[in-house]
Amino acid sequence: MIADIIRSEKLHKYYEGEVKVHALRGVDLFIKKGEMVAIMGPSGCGKTTLLNSLSGLDDISGGKVWIGGKDLNELSDNKKTEMRALSMGFVFQFYNLLPVLSAVENVELPLLLAGKTKDARKKAEKALDLVGLSHRYDHRPSALSGGERQRVTIARAIVNEPDIIWADEPTGDLDTETSDKIMDILCKLNEKNGHTMILVTHEDRVAERADRILHMESGLIEKDQNNGT
Ligand SMILES: Nc1ncnc2c1ncn2[C@@H]1O[C@H](COP(=O)(O)OP(=O)(O)OP(=O)(O)O)[C@@H](O)[C@H]1O
Ligand SMILES: [Mg+2]
Repeated sequence: MIADIIRSEKLHKYYEGEVKVHALRGVDLFIKKGEMVAIMGPSGCGKTTLLNSLSGLDDISGGKVWIGGKDLNELSDNKKTEMRALSMGFVFQFYNLLPVLSAVENVELPLLLAGKTKDARKKAEKALDLVGLSHRYDHRPSALSGGERQRVTIARAIVNEPDIIWADEPTGDLDTETSDKIMDILCKLNEKNGHTMILVTHEDRVAERADRILHMESGLIEKDQNNGT
């Protein structure tokens, strides 16, 4: 399946708990293939929920999401997992690197899980080369700096050459210089390889590099800003 275009219509998400939270309140969205979109907004406004809902990681409560023309409501969990494995990459904080695996093994893993075993090691090395970690193949995560770990996470997200990359605060804990380097890598991937990129950030200097900035507020997109240069 080619996951090229992302669309949502009246997308609602409730969390049912002791207190019911209406986290997405009817989000209408259209993202074109190859777009680089930044999502901003205050803590708790629904940014992570939106990524989880659009990527099919989490079930939605109402409305519709289409990825590459496929209605996610009509796909089984297995199909959604397969779609993610084959056509999406994730740079999420809860998608941690496995501590017992080396950098190159961590990057190789999505290929093995997707059954793409041919040349998996070579592809993993190439992805690490792309993020400037040719000299760190065999290091375990504990022997890498924060910025290096984040770059391994990016290498892991791109190793499958996914149509869509979802990143939730990819530069969150990093200093400005490292953050700029990470953004250089993501922008280059977007420009050169045409990956669609959706990234959540709190930082203006990160968002400025996207084609488009979505400003969220209380579960809705309040402003959809074209960042035309
Ligand atoms: N699993 C959950 N169960 C119940 N409520 C949740 C759950 N996950 C998130 N929420 C609530 O939904 C709302 C949106 O959360 P979300 O994580 O999407 O915010 P966010 O914009 O990503 O915030 P941050 O910038 O702090 O990461 C918040 O009010 C949060 O408390
Ligand atoms: Mg969040």
